[in-house]
Amino acid sequence: MFQGRNCVSCSSNAGIFNGASLRRSALSLAAVAVLVLGILGFASRAMAADDAAATFKSQCVVCHGADGTGTPTGKSLKVADLTSEAVQKTPNAQLAAVVSDGKNNMPPFKNSLSKEQIDGLVAYVKATFGKKK
Ligand code: HEC
Repeated sequence: MFQGRNCVSCSSNAGIFNGASLRRSALSLAAVAVLVLGILGFASRAMAADDAAATFKSQCVVCHGADGTGTPTGKSLKVADLTSEAVQKTPNAQLAAVVSDGKNNMPPFKNSLSKEQIDGLVAYVKATFGKKK
């Protein structure tokens, strides 16, 4: 009698390739990308709302602070104190030009904000921070 054959090469595939951790880091990278796109989307929606206060909050507070005097970040960039007499006495057109074209560490906004939005922001700066003194 022939006692069958022992299959020596039939060991099951015990080596489990673990690609799970690789997949996880790819997923978190995707999550970060989605988050960044969400923030950019939010910023552009805030601009479209054409609300100077909201635009100031989303675009300017990071350096100028909610009270206009400047955040620590802004101060390290030698930010202008928007409540100061120097700024408050500067003609609106001149301030609008700085917001539009930038000046030293003040970034230009002409590519991200419309002329109307910039004029609105300058009016907001005068109305909101001019009264503080
Ligand atoms: C990255 C930081 C930063 C951001 C964001 C920023 N600013 Fe400024 N801003 C500055 C700095 C720095 C100056 C001072 C520029 C100088 O005179 O050297 C300044 C100056 C100004 C001035 C005074 C200009 C003058 O000549 O007196 C106005 C008005 C102003 N910013 C408005 C805005 C508005 C409105 C926004 C939002 C759309 C904004 N800034 C966003 C940093 C910033």
